[in-house]
Amino acid sequence: MRDICLRQVYAGDSVQSAEIRERLAQAPGSTSSRDSRQYLAIEDSVEVGFASVDIYASRRILVIYQLFVPPAHRKRGIGGLFLRHLERLAVKDGLELIRLKPKPLDASLSKEDLIRFYMSQGYRPSTDDHLEKPIRKPR
Ligand SMILES: CC(C)(COP(=O)(O)OP(=O)(O)OC[C@H]1O[C@@H](n2cnc3c(N)ncnc32)[C@H](O)[C@@H]1OP(=O)(O)O)[C@@H](O)C(=O)NCCC(=O)NCCS
Repeated sequence: MRDICLRQVYAGDSVQSAEIRERLAQAPGSTSSRDSRQYLAIEDSVEVGFASVDIYASRRILVIYQLFVPPAHRKRGIGGLFLRHLERLAVKDGLELIRLKPKPLDASLSKEDLIRFYMSQGYRPSTDDHLEKPIRKPR
């Protein structure tokens, strides 16, 4: 597969994919303690993924709130690539840790499948029921 690029999107932006449009409409807004951002993953002008993340700059943490690849584009490595792009953006923002609560957003995969997916991408269980990955600046 080719590489993907990430584009930040905002509520009300025009989005081709109905599945992604629905998720964008439900995305939370920012508050005083967190900066909520939404990204599209684009491959050859086609929307192949959506992520909603919360940045807690004072704690240097990025929380993945939703990571979604439409069913037609799954199991081609897009989810893994999407995570690497988000990790790179987080490093640029001076963040140090990515966290998420593994909760399937639809019935296509189980919580165990989801944990396996994140573990294959270097995420590890933390003391609560979250998964985490420390991120470092490349030398
Ligand atoms: C989770 C999700 C983003 C993965 O996206 P994807 O593009 O299919 O993932 P990839 O193709 O990059 O898969 C990476 C690895 O995870 C594994 N994997 C992906 N989906 C899997 C599944 N349903 N069952 C078992 N393993 C799976 C792949 O085999 C691959 O492993 P490998 O590199 O050893 O071959 C996608 O399934 C999805 O959008 N699910 C519904 C939304 C959701 O529940 N998101 C999680 C919210 S926290």
